[in-house]
Amino acid sequence: MKKIVIAIDGFSACGKSSTAKEVANRLGYKYIDSGAMYRAVTLYFINNYVNPANPKEVSKAMENIDVSFVFNERIGFSETYLNGLNVEKEIRKMHVSQRVSEVSAIPEVRKCMVHQQRKLGRKKGVVMDGRDIGSNVFPNAELKVFMNADMEIRAERRQKELLAKGELVDLPTIEENLKQRDKMDSERKENPLIIAEDAIMLSTNFLTLEEQVEHVLQLATEKM
Ligand code: C5P
Repeated sequence: MKKIVIAIDGFSACGKSSTAKEVANRLGYKYIDSGAMYRAVTLYFINNYVNPANPKEVSKAMENIDVSFVFNERIGFSETYLNGLNVEKEIRKMHVSQRVSEVSAIPEVRKCMVHQQRKLGRKKGVVMDGRDIGSNVFPNAELKVFMNADMEIRAERRQKELLAKGELVDLPTIEENLKQRDKMDSERKENPLIIAEDAIMLSTNFLTLEEQVEHVLQLATEKM
């Protein structure tokens, strides 16, 4: 069977990451969470008081940022590292979610991240999830899936995830953040969130994680 690239795009909190991670696991593919890369950059900007509106500060920051993924044998998945430090938990917190769309809209940030993402997927055998993977990072991906779900379901899902990590956030705050990010991600100039023409739509409203995984695996097998 030939190795392929699987691009999973969609709005925030539709279940992209959980699905992509499990699909990669079952295929023995590499999983790349492109959102985690933008989140790590955002965390650096927050911690180092980088002004996103100042191109000089942004350039200097990008020279000093190294984002990588390290496989954690204990949990069976990769975790995100920023300049050698494990930031997997920190980047999922609300204070990062509230700034990430602003930072990911900066052309220089996108250029650096897209370059790195293409390098990571060069050898194929990769599942990457994000916003512009099928439309921009890998326009020739063999399989493109675009996931969506109703806002209520997405907000509840995100609340549970945050709670599991010890952060209690009320539903209106989460909904507001998701709406704001959808809007900013869809309206930015550089690589906005769009549905690639050849993407297969997958609504996750009434699907369990296992059903989502099965569905994507079935589509992938047809392309191999
Ligand atoms: O997927 P996740 O919700 O963790 O992504 C966080 C943010 O990173 C998104 O809201 C978006 O601003 C940015 N992002 C992006 N392009 C991608 C993946 C994520 O701009 N390919």
